[in-house]
Amino acid sequence: MPSAWATSGTDLHLDPAGPRVRAGLENALRSAVQTGRLRPGARLPSSRVLALDLGIARNTVANAYGQLVAEGWLTARQGSGTRVADRATAISPQPAPPARARRGVPYDLRPGSPDLAAFPRADWIAAARRALNAAPAEALGYSDSRGRPELRRSLADYLARTRGVRVTADQLVVCSGFAQGFGLLCRVLRARGATTLAIEEYCLPGHREAAAAHGLGLRILPVDNDGALTTELGDADAVLLTPAHQFPLGVTLAAHRRTAAVDWAVRRGGLIIEDDYDGEFRYDRQPVGAMQALAPEHVAYAGTASKTLAPGLRLGWLALPGHLHADVIAAKALTDPQASMLDQITLAQFIASGAYDRHVRRSRLAYRRRRDRLAAALERDAPRARISGIAAGLHAIVELPAGHEEHDVVTHARRHGLAVEGLHAYAAGPEPRHAPALVAGYATPPEHAFTATLERLCTVLA
Ligand SMILES: Cc1ncc(COP(=O)(O)O)c(C=O)c1O
Repeated sequence: MPSAWATSGTDLHLDPAGPRVRAGLENALRSAVQTGRLRPGARLPSSRVLALDLGIARNTVANAYGQLVAEGWLTARQGSGTRVADRATAISPQPAPPARARRGVPYDLRPGSPDLAAFPRADWIAAARRALNAAPAEALGYSDSRGRPELRRSLADYLARTRGVRVTADQLVVCSGFAQGFGLLCRVLRARGATTLAIEEYCLPGHREAAAAHGLGLRILPVDNDGALTTELGDADAVLLTPAHQFPLGVTLAAHRRTAAVDWAVRRGGLIIEDDYDGEFRYDRQPVGAMQALAPEHVAYAGTASKTLAPGLRLGWLALPGHLHADVIAAKALTDPQASMLDQITLAQFIASGAYDRHVRRSRLAYRRRRDRLAAALERDAPRARISGIAAGLHAIVELPAGHEEHDVVTHARRHGLAVEGLHAYAAGPEPRHAPALVAGYATPPEHAFTATLERLCTVLA
């Protein structure tokens, strides 16, 4: 169980069951001093008292104190105990982490991440070894901005087989995740005179920001149970859609809405950007194939390894209509000539050897079970909360019981050591159109923490 130690209004959250208790305690104390929560001169509890409070060995506390005294954060004097050093606050605070960087919280249900502890390290290392042994020396030099040919070949086969994408290796561009691919598309669209991007009313705020940063105005598309209202694309120049699994609302884009989008694109010469971020994960039936197959000359299909493997790999891919190809490659060459060749050839080998399919199958089973466990736990312990959206992906919408405010629930959860996000954080406008809900990223916690994380969630909601 995690413990919280409170003194002078300061909470130090620690997980004494974690493998690095002493390091955790040191970090918690450093950060409390840095942020001013522990003021210069503040007296710390004796090592015996803190050890008792936290349920850890006294030596661990004494060693942590000793280390921080040596670093100058604390002082220890006979008779006056251990105190925060006077000069400690002169140390400038650390820069805030970028918005999407995750800091350690004991229980984490924020969406956006697969189970990082389940990354297939051994298979990845084996693929890297095989790939590097087989790679010609020229692979280590500057190369094609579209990405390594072996990766584009592997991806073209994989995407055709699993997502129905109609693409050849030549039409693919490997990029640093969806984020870069989307940025390149915005840049090229704007340079060609586009002014308006239609975007789903609920989406990752970073996508709205990226489009705006590239000078595109936004047209907000409402989303209902059939997905985005593609009947309202009007005079937009392009649209960003998550057809397989709307992020974050979790519905699929109905066939009639797909057709409406394609008709619009053909009629107006508009571009559909298909963000297929978690298309591999569908639990109740076969995944719906990519929309790109309906109109490859009007859809820029974007995929990523961020959900199937890990966001830290920064590997994504674009399958592009012919008319965009040269401009996107030129924009890519200008800003980021090529992704790391080692990662590219490793992923190529990982896919070609079948390890990627195996990993996706394993993950699908694991996440499906987690989703079922989430639903069962809510039904049993917080029956007034309700899951909505299709059985797919790595997150679920948990609609809050009547009378619960998102902000209050998120804050209350924080106090229980649980990080969750409210749906409203993803809305385009200040007036939420959807009922209060949480976006629960059930893939995020490591397996050993999943049960405890569900218990926290139910306690908070009950
Ligand atoms: C809707 C959506 N699209 C795409 C991505 C993947 O982004 P990237 O490939 O840049 O990691 C995410 C990741 O959280 C996402 O939520």
